Amino acid sequence: MEQPAIFVERTLAIIKPDAIDQSAAILRFIEDHGFAILQQRRLHMTPEQCSDFYAEHYGKMFFPSLVSFMSSGPIIAMVLAKENSILEWRDLLGPTSSHRARETHPESLRAIYGTDDQRNAVHGSDSQKGAEREIRFFFPDAVVEPISSGDQATDY
Ligand code: TYD
Ligand code: MG
Repeated sequence: MEQPAIFVERTLAIIKPDAIDQSAAILRFIEDHGFAILQQRRLHMTPEQCSDFYAEHYGKMFFPSLVSFMSSGPIIAMVLAKENSILEWRDLLGPTSSHRARETHPESLRAIYGTDDQRNAVHGSDSQKGAEREIRFFFPDAVVEPISSGDQATDY
């Protein structure tokens, strides 16, 4: 019978330019919530990279200012690992709008560190497919496929 895959779910997190000065507190928050930080990169994205990363939003009114904001300063991109990490990290972010986050999820990262609908401090992948794409985007060498237990050493 096929063995189940061994796979601790991974997600892509970003500390955005508006929250980079709070990165120490945000990294502590991440670790306090039981996520393992598998990879971490500090970089300053070009407008072209931001446009590619947010390609799904091309054509929306906020796209040009989103690209300009995300390329305005350094960011920290991370691969986080935890069971159910995609949903759990999205929950910890709170709603997209920081104003709304303060109303409905006052403990969330966007409520605490965000400013408005755009400057919302942190990013998280929204699905398994999205996480795979976004992890590859920042960490092209990362292995994102589940490791089949069939590939493991013999167990006795
Ligand atoms: P979206 O994928 O809808 O939100 P999320 O980050 O919660 O997945 O949008 C991507 C980013 O685009 C969002 O984090 C901030 C920016 N944005 C705006 O600037 N204005 C808007 O009205 C929306 C919906 C998003
Ligand atoms: Mg999104």
